[in-house]
Amino acid sequence: MQPDQDGDVAAALLGWYDTERRDLPWRTPPGIRPDPYRVWLSEIMLQQTTVKAVIGYFEKFVSRWPTVEALAAADLDEVLSAWAGLGYYTRARNLHRCARKVVEQYGGQFPRSEVELLKLPGIGPYTAAAIAAIAFDEQATPVDGNVERVVARLFGVQEPLPAAKPTLRHLAAKLTPARRSGDFAQAMMDLGATVCTPRRPSCLMCPLSRHCVAQANGLQAVIPAKVDKGERPIRFGVAFLALREDGCVLLRRRPDTGLLARMMEVPTTEWLENPRVLAEALRAAPVRADWWQVPGQVVHTFTHFRLELIVYRAVVPIESPLTFWADPSRCQWIPRRELHRKALPSLMRKVITHGLREM
Ligand code: ADE
Repeated sequence: MQPDQDGDVAAALLGWYDTERRDLPWRTPPGIRPDPYRVWLSEIMLQQTTVKAVIGYFEKFVSRWPTVEALAAADLDEVLSAWAGLGYYTRARNLHRCARKVVEQYGGQFPRSEVELLKLPGIGPYTAAAIAAIAFDEQATPVDGNVERVVARLFGVQEPLPAAKPTLRHLAAKLTPARRSGDFAQAMMDLGATVCTPRRPSCLMCPLSRHCVAQANGLQAVIPAKVDKGERPIRFGVAFLALREDGCVLLRRRPDTGLLARMMEVPTTEWLENPRVLAEALRAAPVRADWWQVPGQVVHTFTHFRLELIVYRAVVPIESPLTFWADPSRCQWIPRRELHRKALPSLMRKVITHGLREM
């Protein structure tokens, strides 16, 4: 079946968007072009993060740095601190690099084509298409998991993900109108987030139900089909919360590459799938001390694994030497009252809160 012979899907969706759109701080009223800086900032924040979590951060960033020039002039550390809690910190570093590049090489004007946008740090195919469409009304089609689901149901594509991705991308691009491409992109996002939801979609409220193959055949629950990826593996480790008698906490900068690259952390053992790492943990302690195991554990879910950390705590004298395992050149003693100003990953905030229990 061909749900869209005459652009009527786009027309129905845009009509719905005009009245039902979500009111979000990076959006402008119909007919008013948004500021590309705000569109870019919101799209970077929305990578891997929900709208609900982003709103407060977006407002904080635009009031502190209202233009790309202001953001480019900021210190990286300030930007990282303001980003703390949003996760995936490489985004914050790239955000800052991108702002500088736009100011230095593009005279403060974001380029409008997907191809040019893709050359900027932190901008991949989805984000380039989203910015081109939303900020510049280029006929571009950002396709994420929400859009894949809407299109798969609309056209009744039964091939499982991820193999179906190229087909879905092609179908989504064919639906995109030449005018109001940005509204169309955001309408697809809103429909996927509020109506065509993964479970129990609200087909009665859907502006596209007349066109939808899955709805006609009662297949909403099985489309999009997914190849089972299996459970996330679990990794184990021990975090060492060393408290110096003068009120400082030992932090260490993570390696320059990999997960949470260059972020500060409470020193930990390696994170291994083999729980034996727990039995041998004290060998990796950053300071020789009388370590006490804080009851309970900290659990954190990353994209590819779940991490379970036990926290050991010790109070140590001011002159305590660091062990070889701590990698002293990357360690710093930070006063406890300054911790809130540090760009710490949320995992490490959880470790500190847990580790300071009953103190
Ligand atoms: N997710 C990614 N980009 C978005 C946007 N502009 N509006 C709502 N959700 C989004």
